[in-house]
Amino acid sequence: MRISVFGLGYVGCVTAACLARAGHEVTGVDVNPEKTAMINDGKSPVVEPGLADLVSEMVRERRLRATVSADWAVRHTELAMICVGTPSGPNGQIDTSALERVVQDIGRALERGSEVYTIVVRSTVLPGTTETLLLRGLRVGDAFEEKVALAVNPEFMREGTSIADFEHPPMTLVGCADDATADRLRMLYRQIDAPFVQTSIKAAEMMKYVSNAFHALKICFANEIGDLCESMGVDQHEVTRTFLLDRKLNISEAYLRPGFAFGGSCLPKDLRALLYAARRSDVGLPLLSSIPESNEHQIRRGIDAVLATRKKRVGVVGLAFKSGTDDLRESPMVALVETLIGKGCAVRILDRNVRLASLVGANRLYIEKEIPHISSLMCDDLRSLTAESEVIVIGSEGKDAVEALAQCRPDQVIINLTRGPVSSIAALGEVVDEEVTA
Ligand SMILES: NC(=O)c1ccc[n+]([C@@H]2O[C@H](COP(=O)([O-])OP(=O)(O)OC[C@H]3O[C@@H](n4cnc5c(N)ncnc54)[C@H](O)[C@@H]3O)[C@@H](O)[C@H]2O)c1
Repeated sequence: MRISVFGLGYVGCVTAACLARAGHEVTGVDVNPEKTAMINDGKSPVVEPGLADLVSEMVRERRLRATVSADWAVRHTELAMICVGTPSGPNGQIDTSALERVVQDIGRALERGSEVYTIVVRSTVLPGTTETLLLRGLRVGDAFEEKVALAVNPEFMREGTSIADFEHPPMTLVGCADDATADRLRMLYRQIDAPFVQTSIKAAEMMKYVSNAFHALKICFANEIGDLCESMGVDQHEVTRTFLLDRKLNISEAYLRPGFAFGGSCLPKDLRALLYAARRSDVGLPLLSSIPESNEHQIRRGIDAVLATRKKRVGVVGLAFKSGTDDLRESPMVALVETLIGKGCAVRILDRNVRLASLVGANRLYIEKEIPHISSLMCDDLRSLTAESEVIVIGSEGKDAVEALAQCRPDQVIINLTRGPVSSIAALGEVVDEEVTA
């Protein structure tokens, strides 16, 4: 393919050189004439292991060249990859001015063309940026859809190992609205040994931020655990090595899907104990200390969603801190129900495990002694609970949640704290009642 790469910084240079190596004809574009001159001289404008040799080889073989003319580049290519910088402003907001300028340059060049031109955003941009900026900036009018194909293709490379990362990314991620564009990108990367993942444009934009936020979180988590181990005289490397061995719960998909707050007899208690021990040793743990507050925030969010409906009759399906257990200790659902009762809601609760426990199980004493006010709200007739409720709160997944939904009337509001994947459950705060939505 004939490709233009806008922005010859780290990402652009590596992308341009590696695509040239893969057999494409690549034109790099930059507003900085020194960078384009260096490329045309066979030199890399950025320092990156292996890149100088690769640029030199690709330029010699006439597979890579550079220009400051966006117009020339667009007219001689069929696809543009935008790799310009998106730096932070003083308030943290991303500066998209370079991206806007590129889009305008491409738009002007496209005014004369008639073929479909593919524009791929590789720069890191917040969800919604690509569609908003490109639609506004290209100004190709009503013919937009016939003239332009859009995609977002985030880069997962790390400086220092970027050529190897380009060849072996964790995935080739392409966000686009149509299969023809996805197929074009699939062809472009056919030599890359990685799963090809197609998403919406916004999901692809978001994915890069989510990944980087998670990486930052992991680094801070590991450092705080290291500090804590050190203060307790525990070998931090031995702990980390052992921690990493657990691929079932630690380094895994577990606990990484959005849902409701955590609770139960272990997580809150053990986190409190660690934070207390750290305080006693004067070890600062800003990240770990923020976890209880974040968890409280999720409970508050659930309560606010119910109160915002201004309806008083609330049916709760699932009370334990997760499905399949009768353990109510530190269940966030108990906290939610207690607040709702305090706010004057008439709450009814269905949780078959808890109901059974209140009659015979080991948790009977806890239920009778600690939460008798909640125990008295329990029922075991789903049909009457759904029939009498104006708001139905789904606290855990399972058969009852699915049935509760099936029985719902259009005038009832559903608040699904589990956020799925129980099919057809509305997300948090989503309202079934059209009147309330309006
Ligand atoms: N550096 C990384 O490791 C990395 C990794 C993944 C994603 N990203 C993202 O990729 C994007 C680029 O990052 P980078 O580190 O390569 O940036 P960079 O600052 O090194 O390079 C940006 C280049 O764009 C050029 N440019 C600016 N305006 C232009 C215009 N109108 N037309 C043509 N060129 C123009 C600049 O002269 C510069 O050479 C950013 O959004 C960044 O967040 C970076």
